[in-house]
Amino acid sequence: MLSADAYKAAANEFETPFYIYSKETIEKACQDVMAFPNEYGLTVRYALKSNPLTAFLKIAEMNGLHFDASSEYEAYRCLKVGIPGDKIQLTAQQFPKAHLDIFKTHGVRFNACSLRQLESFGQLYPGYEVSIRVNPGVGSGSNRKTNVGGPSSSFGIWHEQLDQVKEIASKYNLKISRFHTHIGSGTDPEVWKQVAGMSLGFAIQFDDVKTVNLGGGFKVARMSDEKTTDLQEIGEVVKGEFLRVFKETGRKLELEIEPGTYISAASGALVCEVDDVTDTGESGYNFLKLNTGMDAITRSALYASRHPMEVLPKIATTETVDYVVTGHCCESGDVFTLTEDDTLQPRTLLKAQLGDLVVIEGAGAYCSSMNLANYNSFPALTELLTDRNGELHLLKKSEKVEDLLAREEEVNFL
Ligand SMILES: Cc1ncc(COP(=O)(O)O)c(C=O)c1O
Repeated sequence: MLSADAYKAAANEFETPFYIYSKETIEKACQDVMAFPNEYGLTVRYALKSNPLTAFLKIAEMNGLHFDASSEYEAYRCLKVGIPGDKIQLTAQQFPKAHLDIFKTHGVRFNACSLRQLESFGQLYPGYEVSIRVNPGVGSGSNRKTNVGGPSSSFGIWHEQLDQVKEIASKYNLKISRFHTHIGSGTDPEVWKQVAGMSLGFAIQFDDVKTVNLGGGFKVARMSDEKTTDLQEIGEVVKGEFLRVFKETGRKLELEIEPGTYISAASGALVCEVDDVTDTGESGYNFLKLNTGMDAITRSALYASRHPMEVLPKIATTETVDYVVTGHCCESGDVFTLTEDDTLQPRTLLKAQLGDLVVIEGAGAYCSSMNLANYNSFPALTELLTDRNGELHLLKKSEKVEDLLAREEEVNFL
């Protein structure tokens, strides 16, 4: 993402490890998604769970995006930084409790993800407009932990329960004006065509639906053997399905999409240092141990996600070594180089010395936002943004151990 010199310059100014994001890369991704082909109108919601830093929210808003919040706290966070409520939709696994005023006072939109959520919302807000998230019965995701559709996923209302949706809606006079599915749909236009067609088929069973939201799942290639979704190609087939439905039913449905990864993944890197180099003998492995780990990038330990990595040696070398790259947490699962099925996969990197910088790229999405900071009492990291002129902006200071103790009460009962 950035040049080796830019990473080194940042590391001269700030202690490693830190996350560093490129403003230009975020802006470019926002412009790409806003150009998604559509026939009858488009709203793009930034799925802020991928990275909720205020700078990301502001850049997204300046580029015309709206927002998808995955918890009432994310919705509240958006409001707190000045995003108008009607630009926020809440799609949450847990029904809100602490911030119920977000709907009435601020006009945040609600996307009911279960029958119980729809019922609870109806009891509190009869007569409101609402969206429903439906699990259409199929999913795509490389493993159970990234799959958000099909019978093994609890996300959304099961597609065979739409009659119950209608009953609840009529009991509370709720108007179902928006329809949502999200199965994580990858890069294949044929799959997107099916997903769009299937979602539209369910959506038109509701007379008041004006908007169909196809969720996220726009893949970004982090590794060289992966493929980035071609938004124009996917968008054209999706647009074709909306046009087909218009021809068949006369309904001009608006499209919503909700990218998270696509906006933030490529914009960020985690810059760290080599803390140790060890090995387990001839028939074992060479280990490169970093001064960061699953507390900063959890997704590798959680679902064996792969990130590009580069050693920036202090003393130039062309010699390479196959390393298993491990984190600094006291967990044997704190490993960055794994196959999809979770076995160690050494990575060929430049031969590293203690103190050399290591850059882990593709770390803008689901890294800082999904971290295990404070495990082993490692403090949450500094976060930086670099702009077009290469100027560095501090977005978030790193924590101190004092911060970790700050919420503890004094122990005076022993
Ligand atoms: C409701 C919803 N919207 C959007 C997203 C963002 O998906 P992605 O980061 O793959 O774009 C997700 C992720 O699972 C989601 O559950």
